[in-house]
Order: sequence, then C-alpha cells, then structure tokens
Amino acid sequence: MNLTDVSADLANVLYTQEQIDARIAEMAAQIDQDYADKNLLMVGILNGAVMTMADLSRSLTIHCEMDWMAISSYGSGVSSSGVVRILKDMNTSIVGRDVLIVEDIVDTGLTLSYLVENLRSRNPASIEIAAAFRKPEALKKQVDVKYVGFDIPNEFVVGFGLDYAGKYRNLRGLGVLSPKVYA
Ligand code: PRP
Repeated sequence: MNLTDVSADLANVLYTQEQIDARIAEMAAQIDQDYADKNLLMVGILNGAVMTMADLSRSLTIHCEMDWMAISSYGSGVSSSGVVRILKDMNTSIVGRDVLIVEDIVDTGLTLSYLVENLRSRNPASIEIAAAFRKPEALKKQVDVKYVGFDIPNEFVVGFGLDYAGKYRNLRGLGVLSPKVYA
C-alpha cells in the first residue's frame, strides 16, 4: 500500500518509503560497525517492529539472529494505556548475548523501559535499542535509544508497521492520520 492509496485518510506525509529506506541504511551501517566483532541477536517487538526488523536486518552486512516478543501497551485506540504485559516471550536464551531490541516507535517509553529492565535481569552481555521513530514530546520514562531513525512530532502516525485499529501497517512510508478517521 502506498501513501497515495490512503491520501484521503492522512493529514500529511512525514516520510516516504525512500526516505525511510535511506535512514535505515545509515542505521544499519552504524550497527555493522558496532557489532562487527559480536554475536548480534535482534529482538523484534511484535507487531509493529516487523517492517523495521525486516529492513534493518537485511541492510546489515554482518550476520544476526532474530527473535521476537509480543508486548501489549496500547488498546486499539490512539493513546498509551501504560499497561505493559508480555504476551509472547522469546524462544532464545539471551544469557551472554549482545541483544539489540528492535522497535518501530518509542512513544511514551513505557514499553521499552519495562522491557529493558526485564531483559537486563536475564544477564545478557549487552542490551541496546533501535527504533525507526521516536516522539521526544511524548516521553514519560527516559529510555536510552542508541539507534533512532527519525524524531517525529507527537501526532498519531501510521505506516511502516504502525497501525490504527489494525490497519495501515502495510503502508509504505509514514503519515499523520487525519483526526476524522478516529473521531
Ligand atoms: C507500539 C510500539 C511500541 C509501543 C511504544 O506497540 O510498537 O511497542 O507501542 O509505545 P510506548 O513507548 O508508549 O510504550 P503497540 O502496543 O501499539 O503494539 P503493536 O506493535 O502490535 O502495534
């Protein structure tokens, strides 16, 4: 799905897929360097991180393993509930591993601050975070995101894995959802 396919639902376009691709490539180049002599385990947070994981991992020139967790922090609406629970845990042990958590977006930071604390207690060698997007104005809990694609305004955005009520995840690019869609 392209931005033009849903232009009536979008207040404005923030990034085209081409712009996202270019930024993901830069992030991957940095990760290539930082993990050149490590054994990288990328942990994607379902469902939103699927696109970021697919594009970021394939942009690497080094090997990586991938695992997935599902964590609930939102309902189907537009505001964060602050409720965080693990719906699906990883299949892999992370003891002694260099873990890179992969997210589509850091919004309030509640999900990631919970997650980092939880994963730290499992004794990995290191934990870092990569997120395609971050909303600095929405932050409620400080989280150290080492690899950030774009800092974006505190608006309801869809596309590149980000949904509204399950839709728009398959949208190429990122747009601000028009309030009329969720009013
Ligand atoms: C989104 C996103 C992060 C979280 C960020 O997931 O993928 O996991 O919210 O929000 P926070 O910084 O306010 O905690 P969501 O719960 O919407 O699930 P989804 O990935 O399945 O869409």
